[in-house]
Amino acid sequence: MNTKRILTTAIAATTCMMTMNAQPKLSPTNIDEVLKAMTLEEKAKLLVGGANNFFGDQAVVGGEADLVAGAAGTSPAIPRLGIPATVLTDGPAGVRIDPTRKGTDKTYYATGFPIGTCLASTWNTELVGKVGEAIGNETKEYRCDVILGPGMNLHRNPLCGRNFEYYSEDPLLTGKIGAAYINGVQSQGAGVSAKHFAVNSQETNRTGVDEQLSQRAARELYLRSFEIAVRESQPWTIMSSYNQINGQYSMGNRDLLTSILRDDWGFKGIVMTDWIGIRKGLETITEVQAGNDLMEPGQPAQVKEIIDGVNSGKLDIKDVDRNVRRMLEYIVKTPSFKQYPASNAPDFKAHAAITRQTACEGIVLLKNGPHPASPKGGERLTLPLQLEGAGGGYTVALFGENSYDFLSGGTGSGCVHTPYVVDMVEGLKNAGISTSKTLTDIYRKYIEYARVKFQAERHPANWFQQEMFGQQKYPEAAFSPIAIGKEVREADAAIVTIGRQAGEGADRDIATEFNLLDEECALIIDVCNAFHQADKPVVVIINSGSVIETASWSSYPDAILCAWQPGMEGGNSIADLLTGKVNPSGKLTMTWPVAATDHASTKNFPGSIDDYTFKQMVGSNRPIPGHTYTNHEEDIYVGYRFFDTFGRPVAYPFGYGLSYTTFGYSKPAVQLSGDVVTVSITVKNTGNVAGKEVAQVYVTAPDGQIEKPAKELKAFAKTRELQPGESETLTMTIPVRLLASFDEAGSQWISEAGTYTVHIGSNIADIRATAPFKLSKAYTEKTSDALRPQQKLNLLKRK
Ligand code: BGC
Repeated sequence: MNTKRILTTAIAATTCMMTMNAQPKLSPTNIDEVLKAMTLEEKAKLLVGGANNFFGDQAVVGGEADLVAGAAGTSPAIPRLGIPATVLTDGPAGVRIDPTRKGTDKTYYATGFPIGTCLASTWNTELVGKVGEAIGNETKEYRCDVILGPGMNLHRNPLCGRNFEYYSEDPLLTGKIGAAYINGVQSQGAGVSAKHFAVNSQETNRTGVDEQLSQRAARELYLRSFEIAVRESQPWTIMSSYNQINGQYSMGNRDLLTSILRDDWGFKGIVMTDWIGIRKGLETITEVQAGNDLMEPGQPAQVKEIIDGVNSGKLDIKDVDRNVRRMLEYIVKTPSFKQYPASNAPDFKAHAAITRQTACEGIVLLKNGPHPASPKGGERLTLPLQLEGAGGGYTVALFGENSYDFLSGGTGSGCVHTPYVVDMVEGLKNAGISTSKTLTDIYRKYIEYARVKFQAERHPANWFQQEMFGQQKYPEAAFSPIAIGKEVREADAAIVTIGRQAGEGADRDIATEFNLLDEECALIIDVCNAFHQADKPVVVIINSGSVIETASWSSYPDAILCAWQPGMEGGNSIADLLTGKVNPSGKLTMTWPVAATDHASTKNFPGSIDDYTFKQMVGSNRPIPGHTYTNHEEDIYVGYRFFDTFGRPVAYPFGYGLSYTTFGYSKPAVQLSGDVVTVSITVKNTGNVAGKEVAQVYVTAPDGQIEKPAKELKAFAKTRELQPGESETLTMTIPVRLLASFDEAGSQWISEAGTYTVHIGSNIADIRATAPFKLSKAYTEKTSDALRPQQKLNLLKRK
C-alpha cells in the first residue's frame, strides 16, 4: 500500500467515525445532541404521525410498521438516531386494538372497564386510580405507549353522542376523576392523551362547528376540567379537538395550546391533533406554530409542508425545534423507548375484579320503593331482593333485549374488544338467581335473529356503524299480556332492562334515543300491571351510557337502577347490587332533566337536521345554528348551575343516588387558613347495613360584582365502607383560587371578598349542613387574555 492510499484510508476512517459521532442514539440525557444531529426532513417527519394508511381501506393500523394491529396511530421511528416509533391506542374504557391478527390464532382482547359516566359516578378517586393502573398495565402489555383518554369534555347537553365517554356536567368532578385516571395510567409507565381539548361537547359537525362562547364560560367550565388534570397529573399528552373555538380551530390555536395550556397552567407534555390529518382551511405550519407537536394520524403531505415552510421562511425553525424537543422528551419516557418486553397477556382475572368492583360503585340506585307484598306503609323495600324464603330458588322474568345482549360500552373509537361480556342471565345465575326458561329462550333466539337481520342493515359507508366500532342496539320484542301473565306465575320478580346505544359521530335524538319508545313504555307498564296484581316486584335496569327520560314512567316500577354501560363484568356487578352483596353508593354526575329540552343549552344544541339536508344547506353557504356554529348563550349555566340557580324542576338532581342504608351528617367545621379552606364533617351510618356515602361540598359566593350560580361543587369525599353505627370524619380542602370567577375585563381570576356559605349534602338538592366563612381580602390571579369571542354574545343572566 503506498503512502497516498494509506492517507486516503485514514481520512475515510476518520470521516466515518465523525459521521458516527454525529449520529447519537437518543437517551434521556442527550436530547440536545440528538436534536442537533437531526436533518430538517427528520424533524418534520417526527412531527407527523406514522399511520399514513389510516384513510385507506384498512381503518386503523400503524403505518410505520404494522406495529399493533388496530391501534389508532403512531409517532414515527427514526432508527438512525435510536428514535423508536411509539404506539397510540384508543381508549378510554380499555385498550382498543384488533382482537385477532393475521397469521396467528392468538387473541388480543382487552378488559372492558366501565365507561366514563359510570367511572365518575363512583366519586371515588382512589378506585378510578386503580382502573387507571389496570388500563396503564394493559396499554404496556399490549406494546402500546399511550392510551387515547380520558375523555374530559363536559356534558353541556344530555344529547351529545359521546357523553358516555365523558364524566360529568361539572368541571371540578371531571378534573378530579380525570386526574385520578391519568395518575393511575402513568404510574405504570404508560401515557395518556386527555381529550378533546377543548369545548367539544357535540358530535354534529364536530370537525367544523365553531363553538362561540364567553371567555368566562370557557375558563370556568370547559377548560377548568383540563386545568385541574394538568395541574394534578401532568398528562404525557393532550389531544386537541376537531372543532373551532371563537372562530379558530383548536388544533391551530396558539391561545389555547400555548398561552393557556403551557403559559398559564404549566403543561409540560406534547399536544397531538385529533385524527383528521390535513384539514381544509388550516395549514399544518399554523398547527406547528400554535404548539401542536404531533399531527395525527399523519399524512406525507404534512411532512412536506413543514419542510417547505422552513425552507421558504414561512415557518421558523425555532418553532419546529421546540416541538421536536418536546417529542423527544415524550419518547424517552415511553415503554417502546425503554424496550419494555410486552407480554400480550394482561392479567384479565385481576382486571375483571377491578372492573366489577368499580361498576358496583358507579351504578346508581334511582328508586327503591316499598315491595308490593309489604303492608301499606310497611318497612320492606324492594331492593335488595330477598332470596331466602323463595322455596325452590328465586326466579326472575327477565325482559328487555339488552338483558341478553348487554351493552358493556358505547360505540366509535371508545368501544373496546372485550374477551366476554357478562350479561344479566349469567350475572343473576352467578348470584344464585335463575331466569324463567321460556322467556330466556325466546329472547336468546330473538337476539340471534336480530344480529343477522340488523347487521345487514348497517350502513357500510358509515364508519361507526361497522361492527368493529361496537355493539348495536336492536329493537325490542313485544309480549302479549297472556305471555306476561305466564311469567308472573313462574317468577318471583320481573326485571326490565332498557338499553340505549350511542357514540362517536352522531348526537342522540330526543324522540327515539332520549325518550322511551312507545313499545318500551308499554313493556314496562304491562309487566308492572301484571306482576303487581300478584304482589310481585318489578325492577328497571337502565343500560345506557347517558341520561334518558324517566319522569313519565318512573312511578310504575318498584325500583330503578341506572347501570350505565358498566364494562364486561356488567351482569355480575348488577347482581351484586340487586342481592345486596354490595350496597349502592354511586351518585349522578349530571342532572337528569324532566324533558331533554329543559336544559338551558337546548336552544343552541344541534337540532335534528340529517346529514344530507345539512350538506345541502352548507352548500348554500348559509350558517346553520348548532351546525356551522354553536352559540353558548346559556354561558355558565350548564347542568345544575342552571337548574339549581333558576329553580327548575328535575327528574333526579346532580349528585343523587340512593343507598340501602341511611347516613347522618354532623355539624361541619369550616376554616380558612392562608389560601385554603378546610371543611370537616363526620358522616355516620344510621341504618342497618354497611355502606359508603359521598359527601358533596357546594359553595355559595357572596353577592358581588360578578354574577354567580346559586351553588357550585367545590370538593367531595367518599367514606370507606361504614358498618351500621360507625362514623368517619371527612376532611376536604378548597384552594381559594378554586372559588374564583373569571373576570374578562381584567383577564384574571377573582374570588371576591365577603362571606361565603359552605353547603354539605348528599346531593345538590339534599343539603344536610351549612357553615359560613369570611374572605376578608379578594384573591386575584392574572391570566392571558386568550380566546376572546369575535362577536357579542347574548348571554343568559340571572338578574
Ligand atoms: C376521535 C378520538 C380518537 C381518535 C383515534 C377520533 O375520531 O375523536 O377520540 O382518539 O379518533 O381513533
